[in-house]
Parts: sequence; C-alpha cells; structure tokens
Amino acid sequence: MIRITCSQTKPERKEMALVRFEERNDSWTRVLQNDQIEIVVGIGKKKEFTERKLHLLPRKIIALAKANRIKKLGVCFEELEKLTRVKGGACSELLAKNFELANFEFIEYKTKPEEGWRFVEEIIFFGNISASVKKGVEEGLLIAEEINACRRLANTPGGEMTPKVLAKEAEQAAKGTKVKVTVLEKAEIKKLKMGGILGVAEGSKEEPKFIIMEYAGKAEKPIVLVGKGVTFDTGGLSLKPEQYMNEMHMDMSGGAAAIHAIVLAAKLKLKKHIVALIPAVENMPSGSSYRPGDILRAMSGKTIEVLNTDAEGRIILADALTYAKKFEPRLVIDVATLTGSAMGALGQRASAFFTKDDALAKRLIEAGERAGDYVWRLPLWEEYGEEIQGTFGDIINTGKTRYGGAITAAMFLYEFAKDLGCPWAHIDMAPRMTSIESDCLAKGAAGAPVGLLIEFLKK
Ligand code: BES
Ligand code: MN
Ligand code: ZN
Repeated sequence: MIRITCSQTKPERKEMALVRFEERNDSWTRVLQNDQIEIVVGIGKKKEFTERKLHLLPRKIIALAKANRIKKLGVCFEELEKLTRVKGGACSELLAKNFELANFEFIEYKTKPEEGWRFVEEIIFFGNISASVKKGVEEGLLIAEEINACRRLANTPGGEMTPKVLAKEAEQAAKGTKVKVTVLEKAEIKKLKMGGILGVAEGSKEEPKFIIMEYAGKAEKPIVLVGKGVTFDTGGLSLKPEQYMNEMHMDMSGGAAAIHAIVLAAKLKLKKHIVALIPAVENMPSGSSYRPGDILRAMSGKTIEVLNTDAEGRIILADALTYAKKFEPRLVIDVATLTGSAMGALGQRASAFFTKDDALAKRLIEAGERAGDYVWRLPLWEEYGEEIQGTFGDIINTGKTRYGGAITAAMFLYEFAKDLGCPWAHIDMAPRMTSIESDCLAKGAAGAPVGLLIEFLKK
C-alpha cells in the first residue's frame, strides 16, 4: 500500500518528485535547477475537467511515475482542488483510491526484475489543506486495498482458484472483521435441493461450495449480495472455443466482488446488515457433466431445461436467489460475469444492470458515477419472458435467438427473484471483468463493481 500523508508545507526532498497541476493539455516531467524533479500535469480546460476525468488523473500520474521509476511523489493538493468541483475529503478520497488502484499489479507469479518493481511507495499531499482531507485519504486507501484484493482473487489462475480455495479466501478476507463466514459442503447443498448448483458442478472433480457471509452492522432486514462464483468456465459439454476460454478463470469475479464488498463494509463500520451469498462451482466437460437436454430441478421447485451448458451462471444464481429468501431481505443485488452479450451491448466501459425498481435504478447509476464504476440499465420487459419459455421444463437457460442475450439471462434470473418479495437488481459485470487500456489500470481483473457497491451501501 502507498504511504500517503498530508503536509501544510511543500516537502523539500530531492528524491520526491513534485506534482503540479495546470490548465493545459499536455503533461511532462522535468528536472529543476536544484535537481528536483517536477511533474506538470495538464488537466485540460478547467470547465471541461469533469469528475470522470478526475478519476483517471491520479491513475495517469502513477503511470507516469512508474514509467520514470519515481518512487515518491509530493502532490500539490491545493492546486488541484482549485481546478475541480470535488473538494476536501471527497477529493482526497478519490485521489488516494485511484493512486492505489493504479499502483496495483498482479505480480504473484512473476520473477522480481533485477531493477526491482516499479511501485510508487510514498505520496505527500501538500498545500493549504482542510481537516477532512486526511480522513478522505484513509478511506480512499481502505477502499482501494479491498478492490485490489478482489482483483488479486479474480486474477488467480483457475487451477489454483477452485471452489474450495474461494471459500478459504472468503474466510481469510473476513479475518479480523465482524463478518461471519459459513461454507455449505456438497452434502448440505444436496439437502437443500439446490439442483442447479449440483447440476453445473457435476462435471468437475472439485465439489461445489456455497459460501455465506454475514455482517450485522445494524439490527434490520439485510441487504443480500449474491455473486457468481464459477471458478473456471470451460462452457462444459457446450465447450467454449479457445479464444473465448482464456479469461474464464475470472468467471468468479462477481463472487470476489461480493466477498470484498461485505468485508469492506465491515472495515468501514457501515451501520448496515449485509449478507453475501456465493455459489462456487467449476464448469467442466467430462463423462459426468450435465448435458444439453438435461432438466434440473432448482431449489425453488422450478425445472430448468438446459439447452446450453455454457449458460451455467444463471443456473447457479437461481438457487442462490432462492436461498436468499431465508434472510427476509429488504433488497437483493446479484453480481455476475453473466453474458458476452452485455459486452456486445455496452462495450467495456460500463456494466449492464437490470431492475424493475426505478428508484433503485437511479441510486445504482448515481453510486456508479460517484465511484467511477459505471453501470447502465437494460430492460426487463415482460415481452422478453417468451424467449425463455421451456418446452419440456419450466424455463430454458438460453434465449431462443442469439439476440438480446444479456436481457434473456436477466429474465431467467427474474423468474427466481420475483419470489423474493423485495426489490432486486442484477448487475451483469462481464463488460467490466477486465480493464481496458484507457482505464490506466494493470491488465487483468478491473475490480468492478466493488467501488459501486460500497458507494451504494454507504448511502
Ligand atoms: N461466463 C460467461 C460469460 C462471459 C463471457 C463473461 C465473456 C465474461 C466474458 C457465461 O457463462 C457464458 O458463457 N455466457 C454465454 C451464454 C450463452 C451460452 C447463452 C454467452 O454469453 O455467450
Ligand atoms: Mn458459461
Ligand atoms: Zn460463465
């Protein structure tokens, strides 16, 4: 983690590069007469310097520092504050968070280079700074640390990230916090008649796990987060073509996000009652796999006609949504890398989300904006229901055409969520599973939508 402190005076240390902000288009580094390195960062035109650009600015500074092997930065916070609408603690939180997010790299499997890693180690915010700034820094770092932990989990190769390991990681993440973790084993999953989870898990030698986490920050009905925990998605017997399989160790990103969102809520001591449910399975082709044409009986009693074993996420989420009912939730949000189609619809800059509740939709979009972790709504209109009507079972697990796949997947989930008796939202985070170049983040897992969830839970 970067050490970030605040100071009223400009640090006079040669090894510390000074970051200054100006209303211009370019950025550069230069060496001053006294050997001091100065980084001048152009923010563009002040009136066009939106909050969206402010999320990216600190990441660009870290990229510049890393490229130049600069380890210590003095940031003229006062100067930046004058150029943005986001002030004080909100501004320092955003800066600290994005510095830390940009500093992260998944190096667990890399040999350390002789010259060492390029990480930034220390940052001082200086200038005339208000009292709230320090608190903003602490909170920003805490949030980023948890998002980075989520990215680390998602980046871990599929061979090492099995359902069992995911469950262990959930326990590890919760250590030292008020989050209680329970893991249901296969026998208990059977007893609960979770036919969806059992069906998908059938092809793997790894047994399924059902991870339950609970943080009771207040005595009230809980908000339940549900996260897809497919630790590797080969597609099963409906095997994926190779170019679509290589990133499927990240198909537990929704689960990782749920795990770290609830742990973060506990670390921030939010006065909320939160539950996280993560059905964890591996989707493999083998002699014991579930087959296209199989009909699974979900925990709710509904039967699922499996037309494509690669549409496995919705099947395991169906059982998790049914299980959520036990908690008498006041709200349920599921998070899943559910469809390539969501990416087709939105590109890779926002997750798709679905809800019947307009007020909830508004709050999710706003939380996404605040977090720089964007979501956009797609419809759940009843007309789409036709596309998942079953022939031999109650519902089919794919749409009847190849169009609108993100929507038919959401309609499938709605068939189970409608029994919850509370508002529900589904976030299809497939578009944001991995970072893209313009995110200015390391390659691999982007850590979405932990930032959004925590902004949402805070309010
Ligand atoms: N995990 C995939 C979706 C996915 C694709 C996530 C790319 C992230 C990046 C999901 O299980 C899947 O295979 N979905 C299929 C559904 C189809 C068979 C109806 C898809 O989207 O193609
Ligand atoms: Mn799949
Ligand atoms: Zn999947």
